[in-house]
Amino acid sequence: MLFDRVKPLDAILATAQKKSLKRTLGPIQLMLFGIGCIIGTGIFVLTAGAQKAGPGLMLAFVIAGLVCVVAALCYAEIAAMIPVAGSAYTYSYATVGELLAWTVGWALILEYAIAASAVSVGWSGYFSGTILNEFFGIQLPQWLAAGPLALGGEPGGFINLPAMFIALLITGLLMLGTSESARVNAVLVAIKVTALTIFIALTFTSPEFNVDRFNPFLAGLLGPGGSGVGAVGAAATIFFAYVGFDAVSTAAEETRNPQRNVPIGLVGSLLFCTVFYILVAAGAIGTIGGQPIMGPGGIPFPAGSEELARQCALPQHAAALVCSDEALAHVLRQIGFSGVGNMLGIAAFLALPSVILVLLFAQTRIFFVMSRDGLLPEVLSKVHPRWNTPYVVTAITGVIVAVGSAFFPVGALADIANAGTLYAFLMVAVAVMMLRRSDPDRQRHFRVPALWLIGPATIAGCAFLFINLPSEAMLVLPVWSVIGLVLYFGYSRRRSAVGRGVIEAHEPEYADMAPHLPGADEGRRS
Ligand code: ALA
Repeated sequence: MLFDRVKPLDAILATAQKKSLKRTLGPIQLMLFGIGCIIGTGIFVLTAGAQKAGPGLMLAFVIAGLVCVVAALCYAEIAAMIPVAGSAYTYSYATVGELLAWTVGWALILEYAIAASAVSVGWSGYFSGTILNEFFGIQLPQWLAAGPLALGGEPGGFINLPAMFIALLITGLLMLGTSESARVNAVLVAIKVTALTIFIALTFTSPEFNVDRFNPFLAGLLGPGGSGVGAVGAAATIFFAYVGFDAVSTAAEETRNPQRNVPIGLVGSLLFCTVFYILVAAGAIGTIGGQPIMGPGGIPFPAGSEELARQCALPQHAAALVCSDEALAHVLRQIGFSGVGNMLGIAAFLALPSVILVLLFAQTRIFFVMSRDGLLPEVLSKVHPRWNTPYVVTAITGVIVAVGSAFFPVGALADIANAGTLYAFLMVAVAVMMLRRSDPDRQRHFRVPALWLIGPATIAGCAFLFINLPSEAMLVLPVWSVIGLVLYFGYSRRRSAVGRGVIEAHEPEYADMAPHLPGADEGRRS
């Protein structure tokens, strides 16, 4: 009884057909879109994740990248097959049914909203450090520059004002219907990639670069003394740097020859970023090292902890990678390129808001679809008569994101976002395998090669990263799910459109695709 509410795939596909967007996107445009969503706070800030991985930081990027590549293949098959709004939530609705789909939609709030908070905090570090401090000589008081437990600096932050400001600013822009054009996206991708390329070139050619700093490389795998944090623990956090590639799946419907181009877009953007990330990590560790700050018993202080923040405030740790709020700019300043470090800071300052925009947009869209399905109050899918945007849900999401960014440290936010994302990725792999069994003859524009290997590998990889998250982040998912289930059984189940026998779904009438999809405008006009 509990699992019988499956949304018929044909009804979902009929909806997609009604939209009939033009297929205009090619592989390069898809990759640019993907890279625009992927490169953000993860690489610009969380490289300070060396507190867990130590010199083996590169391994963390490899492990997280591998899990994302197999997950991306699963996304490619299902997105090319069910190219409609709602991503993992919709795929689950069509396979494992409403109850589990609800839990996925609920977990996606963690992925998108909390990730948007994390990127806002990452932006705040570069804004305070580079723009305010380096250029204007203004030192924002600690209590206004960080949440109560922010990584680095002195403990005793109270509210992260810049992070809150950027989250609310982007929310306002989205409410007014701002979308990013393909050209702006391409420019921002160029800025980010140039900044990372310069970083790699300068660090690798620096006289400070010393291969000895990578030792002990493998010893870092499980953490000092087998403490379990090490590179695998860092991979669970660093995974955040890859989040966002799934946004490419929302473009499947507008892609020319999706069989070829969707997987190229998904996997190509991921591989591109993986290579850059590994080189950036190598540059950072090779030049200034990534030795964790050790606590009693030779165990590193937990990343994001109050003890670590206290240690970082001591003068002897001022130069440590693990203490920086603007990790990459910090590395460049340490090796004598202060000016270039500041330029990199400006690149992050300019480019990170677009990642917040995409994440916030994706979140409002999931809420919108869930509300349209009757699982959330109808008021959420209200579209503003003039702005033509779902302004109610955007405002609510924006306030949640702003509050998250004001009071929590970036590492904790990233870990929580990862918990939700890993669950969604896992469910996508389950959905792909179930559909192969239940509906083997349906046309698939892309088929995962060796699915019975890749599917279980995705599930195992996601579960593995999940159990390597800090326990608080791991706990958030079940607690969050219980809250979601109370809501589901108390409200949504009775009001569900599918439950009431209404399966005709209509697509949102506002902006049809993610904001900076090249070609989306032509599609809408058709
Ligand atoms: N991958 C995105 C980032 O690192 C979410 O900011």
